Amino acid sequence: MERYDAKDVSADMSFLEMLDVVNEKLIGEGKEPIAFEHDCREGICGSCGFMINGIAHGPERGTTVCQLHMRHFQDGDELYLEPWRARAFPVIKDLVVDRSAFDRIIASGGYISARTGGAPDGNTLPVPKMDSDRAMDAAACIGCGACVAACPNASAALFTGAKISHLGLLPQGQAERSRRALRMVAQFNTELFGSCTNIGECEAVCPKEIRLDVIARMNHDYLKAKWEDRS
Ligand code: SF4
Ligand code: FES
Repeated sequence: MERYDAKDVSADMSFLEMLDVVNEKLIGEGKEPIAFEHDCREGICGSCGFMINGIAHGPERGTTVCQLHMRHFQDGDELYLEPWRARAFPVIKDLVVDRSAFDRIIASGGYISARTGGAPDGNTLPVPKMDSDRAMDAAACIGCGACVAACPNASAALFTGAKISHLGLLPQGQAERSRRALRMVAQFNTELFGSCTNIGECEAVCPKEIRLDVIARMNHDYLKAKWEDRS
């Protein structure tokens, strides 16, 4: 661990703005800035994310690091920042990890190949309200990796379950539903993620509040696909 003093920090700054201030000072002194990842800074891209005092994305529920503000901390607080810890996410530098294992899970089946046309065509296909709501909730996953970092098994079950659920609940996602579940779960297993043992830490830290039931849906689709394969 390396110790840094964060001076001239206002309560209205976001956590990443606080790190910007620290880094500007370090650069001014000719030192290496702290490496961290970010893009949108509005909680939608999933780039940011690290542990703050042992909690993925910090102490505020349903909040990404970029949306976390310094008003939630006290002047003089000592904060321990660490990168996501999981074998499937090798550390690149400081707080930056390689999350390309998630990209490979998506590439293995997290898409539909049906032609969906434009928005008016999509709207001609009725979707039951409950299904569209559940699909939208699952689609909120931003692929940040906090679920993996918080899980004692470093499981990617919440992430994979969210991606399988959001497509599997919609009519356009039915044609490839079984194949998608088989391929994405197989890829998840080859990427050194652990298995899910229903601990629930993933749900507790997820900044998009993805619910554990996406894991049940993933298991259902996977087992059904396995059964269909056999018969
Ligand atoms: S399920 Fe939640 S914690 Fe996991 S990658 Fe998606 S948004 Fe991040
Ligand atoms: S920088 Fe995009 S979610 Fe935080």
